Parts: sequence; C-alpha cells; structure tokens
Amino acid sequence: MLFQTTAEHEQLRAKIRSFAEEEIKPIAFSLDQENQFPDEAVKKLGEMGLMGIPYPKEYGGAGLDILSYAIAVEELARIDGGSGVILSAHVSLGSFPIFAYGNEEQKKKYLTPLAKGEKIAAFGLTEPNAGSDAGGTETTAIDKGDYYLLNGGKIFITNAPKADTYVVFAVTTPDIGTRGISAFIVEKGWEGFEFGDHYDKLGIRSSTTAELIFNDVKVPKENLLGKEGEGFKIAMSTLDGGRIGIAAQALGIAQGAYEQALDYAKERIQFGKPIAAQQGISFKLADMATKLRCARFLVYSAAELKEAHSSYSMEAAMAKMYASDIALEVTNDAVQIFGGTGFLKGMDVERMYRDAKITTIYEGTNEIQRVVIASHIIGRMKK
Ligand code: CAA
Repeated sequence: MLFQTTAEHEQLRAKIRSFAEEEIKPIAFSLDQENQFPDEAVKKLGEMGLMGIPYPKEYGGAGLDILSYAIAVEELARIDGGSGVILSAHVSLGSFPIFAYGNEEQKKKYLTPLAKGEKIAAFGLTEPNAGSDAGGTETTAIDKGDYYLLNGGKIFITNAPKADTYVVFAVTTPDIGTRGISAFIVEKGWEGFEFGDHYDKLGIRSSTTAELIFNDVKVPKENLLGKEGEGFKIAMSTLDGGRIGIAAQALGIAQGAYEQALDYAKERIQFGKPIAAQQGISFKLADMATKLRCARFLVYSAAELKEAHSSYSMEAAMAKMYASDIALEVTNDAVQIFGGTGFLKGMDVERMYRDAKITTIYEGTNEIQRVVIASHIIGRMKK
C-alpha cells in the first residue's frame, strides 16, 4: 500500500502546528497544574473551522477528510494531550452520531452549531457497571407518550460539564440485551440533568471529565437518535471512528515527547560529547522514531479506510492499541533521556508521560481493542 499525505494535508498540519505552538504551548503547563479547560483556544479552533473538520459545509463543517481530522488531533496533542482529546471527543464521539444517524432536523439543530464550534459535544456511554461491558447499560429511558423519561447516570464523560450537547445511551426495552438500548440527544440545562464533580486526573488535565446525573429528565420524542433499539450499534460504530481520534492523540503526545528528547539529546553533553552520540541514547531515539512511523501508518491508513467508506473497525482498533502502547513507551524513554530533569514539574515530557497513560484506557481499553481485533480475525465465537 502506498501512503502519502497531500500538500493540503501538510498545509493544514503547518497551520494547526503554529496555532498550537503560539496559543496553547505557553499555557500548557498552567492548564495542567490548574486543571483548567482552554476556553479561548477552543473558541479559536471553532473560528478556524476546526471543530467541524470532517463534516459537510452545509452543516457548518470544513468539508475536509478524516485524515485531516486525525492530523488536527495529532498536532494539538503534540503540544497538549488534553486539547487533543477535547477536539477528538467533540468531533468523533459527540458530533459523529448526529451526523451519521440524525435526521435532517437534528442535523440542522444540533450538528450545525457543533461543527461551527458555537457549541461543544460529548458522548455519554460509560456507567459504573458498564465500562468495558458497554452493553451492561443501566440508565433507562421510559416511553411516556410525548417524551422519554431518562433516569440514571454516566461517569468519566470527556468534555462534561463544558459540553452543551450530549449523545446519551439508555435502555428503552429491558431484558433483551444490547438490542434494548437507544440513543438520545440531550441538552445541558434540561430540568433534572446535573453534573457530578470534575474528576481530578493523572493526566490530560486541561480536558474536563465529569459525571452526568439524570433525574426524571424529559427527553422529547424528536431527540431519539436513529430508531429505538439501535443505540448499541450507534455507540459501537461511533467508537470505531473515535478510536482513530484517540490513536491520533496518542501519536501526537508521543511525537511531542520524542522531539523534545531528540533536541535535548543533541545538546546535553556528558563524557565530553552530546548524549545523542552515545549508543545507549542513539539506539533509544532510533527505536522511538521507528515506533512513531509504524503508529503513524496505522493511524493514517485507518483514517483513509474510514474516508473511503470501507470497513475499518479492526484497523481503528489496531491503530488505537498500537499508538497508545507506543505512546507510553516513547514518553517513558523521553523522560529517561532527560534524566532527573525530565522528572521535574514544568518539563513538557513529565506532563506528556502522564498524559499518555489514558490513551491505553479510554475509548475501549487496549484489552478490549484486542477483543475487537480477535473477533475480526477469528470471527465471533459461540458464548
Ligand atoms: N459496529 C456496528 N455494530 C457493532 C459493532 C460495530 N463496531 N460491534 C458490535 N456491533 C453489534 C454486533 O453486530 C451485535 O449486533 P446484533 O445484536 O445484531 O448481533 C451487537 O452490536 C452486540 O455485539 P457484541 O455481542 O459483540 O457486543 P458485546 O456486548 O460482546 O460487546 C465490545 C462488544 C466490543 C466488548 C463492546 O462492549 C465495547 O466496545 N466495549 C468497550 C466500550 C468502550 O469503548 N467504551 C468507551 C467509552 S467512550 C470513551 O472512553 C471516550 C472518552 O473518554 C474520550
């Protein structure tokens, strides 16, 4: 397979790179320390047309391809992993199901302001008893004639409580498993919809993560997304695309740490020469560069498959699993190359090392990615 980005992709990369260098890099340390969302930067991303990168212009998007979206997440994460996931969760988790499964009215009402960056989106799937086993959803949406009555809660929701629009999964028909789950568009501010505390996290601290609490929330009938009972498939197919976003985020974090380590290794003199000229360090750098190249091929080719409307579920899982695994290795090596200096607060590699960890956990742990990959190569076995 021949793989090459176009001149347009590289122009976009340069544009986002300079935005991230100028607007996010100077505040990345304080965002991390203060657990603070980059409101201004996210607003500017919207003004640049990046919050709706892969969606058609008629819905306020930029009309670019999935690879452009992956490059955007990668470049933000190269500077700040939290900013990368804000874009990823907004574009591929919160907005995608409305684009792919919404009717015309839902797209006009909800997708358009999201794609223009006027509003922020989030995805409410995970619950205390439904993490890896997403089909174990316990939140309920009972048909009351004119509306559904939503009760229950979601945990670990990226972009909450900043987000305005939530795609929420709930059981509409109990006792029939995943086929009893439906998807709904839920707005912040509706009576009975509240947020729990903002979690205090190890990494990606510039992104917000909160609990959603639903107490008798009246969801209008027209906010059912797709048909009743289609929710689990909507969630799964949304996660397929979301995993490309997280793979790109992991790739960006690893790239940022690698570049820092490379620069430092060329400057740092020990035993009378730069440490990059010592084999122990040069081999480490060679391994880091090779892993990054492999990850980039996996991420970009999964993006191309999605763009081509080919089957890409397995390739997205491979990209997410591999890119996040190597993000941990590469950021660890970067801290090692910096030595004691890399262990200090205020060093980018220290933050990147912490930011990398979540990429092996969310949007399906890497163990779940292996379940997905195995089910594609072996086929679904009898339970
Ligand atoms: N696309 C469409 N349909 C799919 C699908 C896909 N990728 N994968 C499965 N399905 C369908 C199946 O075909 C099956 O359909 P039928 O009922 O018609 O037979 C149905 O869904 C059930 O499939 P399974 O029996 O395979 O489902 P399962 O209960 O065994 O679960 C799983 C499969 C892959 C383990 C799934 O539960 C899973 O992906 N778990 C991980 C959850 C996850 O990734 N959570 C992330 C939360 S979001 C997040 O983390 C975001 C963030 O913070 C940034």
